[in-house]
Amino acid sequence: MKLAILSRNSKLYSTQRLVEAARVRGHTVRVLDPLRCYMRIEPGAFSMHYKGREMSDYDAVIPRIGASVTFYGTAVLRQLEMMGVYTPNASDAILRARDKLRCHQLLAREGIGLPRTVFGDNPDDTADLLAMLGRPPHVIKLNEGTQGAGVILAERASASQSVIEAFRGLYANFLVQEFIAEAKGADVRCFVVGGRVVAAMRRQARRGEFRSNLHRGGTAKAVELDADETETAIRAARVLGLNVAGVDLLRSRRGPLVLEVNSSPGLEGIEGATGEDVAGAVVDYIDGRVRRARRIARRAL
Ligand SMILES: Nc1ncnc2c1ncn2[C@@H]1O[C@H](COP(=O)(O)OP(=O)(O)OP(=O)(O)O)[C@@H](O)[C@H]1O
Ligand SMILES: [Mg+2]
Repeated sequence: MKLAILSRNSKLYSTQRLVEAARVRGHTVRVLDPLRCYMRIEPGAFSMHYKGREMSDYDAVIPRIGASVTFYGTAVLRQLEMMGVYTPNASDAILRARDKLRCHQLLAREGIGLPRTVFGDNPDDTADLLAMLGRPPHVIKLNEGTQGAGVILAERASASQSVIEAFRGLYANFLVQEFIAEAKGADVRCFVVGGRVVAAMRRQARRGEFRSNLHRGGTAKAVELDADETETAIRAARVLGLNVAGVDLLRSRRGPLVLEVNSSPGLEGIEGATGEDVAGAVVDYIDGRVRRARRIARRAL
């Protein structure tokens, strides 16, 4: 197949591994910077150019769209979808996953476990908002935060109040969660491809830290999931409509709780910790879908 990878940086580990996995399997692959893709929107005449050349004949695209280019990146992806190019993660699914509040609402509606979460807008409501959450400790999270930055543990309600006031002063969006103490500074990243968990790792925070992010000094090891965890990860990806997803879970007394579903999960940490060929699993899944679509199209002739 002819495969495009939408990525701002062809030198990133994840991008390079996907290119390598595709080439090893005999596919043609190109890395395209989404910000250099431009398009014509016209009934029956969608067109996309890349650095002066028409983009045609792509069978599939792997979107690796960073948070900072979500809007333009998903517009490029949507154009490719309309031109009949297969993507494991549709533009709408990526947008769903990027919106943390929406993501939590959709998962909770399906009965998928989450840390209890509250959010609100007006400072006059903060005390009642925290009462809706329950007793501290609380975890306060900036919506735009990533890699553990902007995730704060408040041991007392007065601390929660001050942090929330400070965030509000900066016009930052945030949500507040119950603190899952029994997770003991660890979370589990499940890499889901096509409704299967292809690799899983447990990230443990360093001593004195509750955030397990590798960027905050956490360490990662391969982990065996139990049936409940496997099912939760698969369901969370399915609810958001993602065929490639990184689902982060906390192990709690009441079972696995979803922290986040990532639509462009990195490959370096998970391949390093587990030794699995995750890039290969992604490419093989896409290849299977493209072949299936071709078979169906042939039969319809
Ligand atoms: N409610 C919670 N209870 C206990 N620990 C938590 C809770 N929320 C987050 N943590 C810990 O803090 C870490 C960082 O939180 P989280 O993953 O939500 O934010 P992030 O990594 O900055 O953002 P994102 O994963 O959305 O890019 C988690 O990996 C987990 O170890
Ligand atoms: Mg995280």
